[in-house]
Amino acid sequence: MRVLYSGEEIQRRVEELAAELRPLYADRNPLLLGVLKGSFIFLADLARALAIPLEVDFVQLASYGDGTESAGFVRFERDVERPLQGRHVLVVEDIVDTGHTLRFLLSTLASRQTASVRVVSLLEKPSRRCLAVRPDYVGFTIPDLFVVGYGMDLAEGFRHLPDICVLEADDK
Ligand code: IMP
Repeated sequence: MRVLYSGEEIQRRVEELAAELRPLYADRNPLLLGVLKGSFIFLADLARALAIPLEVDFVQLASYGDGTESAGFVRFERDVERPLQGRHVLVVEDIVDTGHTLRFLLSTLASRQTASVRVVSLLEKPSRRCLAVRPDYVGFTIPDLFVVGYGMDLAEGFRHLPDICVLEADDK
């Protein structure tokens, strides 16, 4: 397993993102909308780094296709609990890969009379994007690697690692 970004590097970047986002959301009581499960640690760190009044909710999306990548068919496993009307929504993603998940979520949110919707993603892999959808704020742009840790998994494993790591051939 190779460390791509250490826990310390991640914390520094989260602080920078929070500093950029704070002026936009102070006094707006934003709703941080985490996309489960991969964003749960990023959201927890970002919410504390923002240090402004905010609310938190989660959606869970499932893509059904043939395995490791989303094939373009996405559905809700869990929708938001509260109405989004008039809310400033900040979608918090772990990684935008092909873009199918984010496009589905944004098209759904478009019909919910929000005051604003922006997207912050810890990681993005632009080389694999097949759709014209981009997060507004990105922690790190990475090449086409499969990463785990800091919330992200392979078959539900590795989410607890403090660093963002790249799996190597002999990792279990
Ligand atoms: P997309 O719909 O192809 O953009 O896929 C986005 C989702 O796929 C992310 O929210 C992750 O849950 C998952 N994913 C994509 N790449 C990786 C990776 O390298 N490691 C772990 N999960 C990933």
